[in-house]
Amino acid sequence: MSYVTASGLTRQYDLSDPWFIRMITGRKANVLTAVNQVSFSIEKGTTYALVGESGSGKSTIAKMLAGVLAPSQGSVQIDGHDFNNPRLDNANKKMLRQRVQMVFQSPYASLNPRWKIGDILLEPINAFNLIEDKATRQKRVIELLEQVGMSAHDQTKYPHEFSGGQRQRISIARALACHPELIICDEPTSALDVSVQAQVLNLLKDLQQENGLTYLFISHDLAVISTMANKIGVLKDGELVEEGETSGLLANPQHAYTKMLLAAAPDIGAYIS
Ligand SMILES: Nc1ncnc2c1ncn2[C@@H]1O[C@H](COP(=O)(O)OP(=O)(O)OP(=O)(O)O)[C@@H](O)[C@H]1O
Ligand SMILES: [Mg+2]
Repeated sequence: MSYVTASGLTRQYDLSDPWFIRMITGRKANVLTAVNQVSFSIEKGTTYALVGESGSGKSTIAKMLAGVLAPSQGSVQIDGHDFNNPRLDNANKKMLRQRVQMVFQSPYASLNPRWKIGDILLEPINAFNLIEDKATRQKRVIELLEQVGMSAHDQTKYPHEFSGGQRQRISIARALACHPELIICDEPTSALDVSVQAQVLNLLKDLQQENGLTYLFISHDLAVISTMANKIGVLKDGELVEEGETSGLLANPQHAYTKMLLAAAPDIGAYIS
């Protein structure tokens, strides 16, 4: 069984005016289908990438996988568990919340600016009661910082004292604090300079190797995706129009939209080894 299985995932947003306004104006209901019948699976320890233009439904899928947004139809199974199963007990819900972590595009927005880095890293450890002993918790914070290429004295600083790349490292450390199995990376390097971007991508790859992590990696940049993914799914207007192993899909794209994305990434040859 795959580690992640998304089946027929669909999410609609009701953008209609309130009914009484519709009564007066005669306007029709307006329902946007942001994600339409998307199915894919991710094997444990591999990276599945979703690529697609802005508004194609990537983040909506990410949120449904992370259990923060319920699908209108369809379901997601993570290691055999479904966040939206009404029979899922609290212990399993908590275990899923711990195992599935997200890393976002803007680390500044996702790190509390008033908290020191040490406290930011302690928060998930405390929330999930992961370590009882204070000294061991402190050691764990240092270990997490070192894992992402930062150092012990960074724990007394605030988010604004770091560069974008360093802040993204801190977000990754915070995700790692929970001992996750699946990390959903939603455009994790889109806000970074190209050279810093490469460092963060390499860090993510190393951490995957060391910890056997499974990634859902989201980007609009096919060149970035080609360096990260085992498998790629191409999203267009909420639908998965093409899917395949990275090398096969890049060498022999089938869908016109995939061909267009490839044509728009002229440097991709340099990334394909
Ligand atoms: N809470 C919401 N209410 C209404 N519409 C929404 C909501 N969230 C997303 N949408 C719409 O759903 C569609 C998909 O949005 P989504 O954020 O998933 O796209 P995306 O592929 O992540 O785009 P980007 O690359 O810009 O991040 C868009 O048309 C968006 O406007
Ligand atoms: Mg998005």
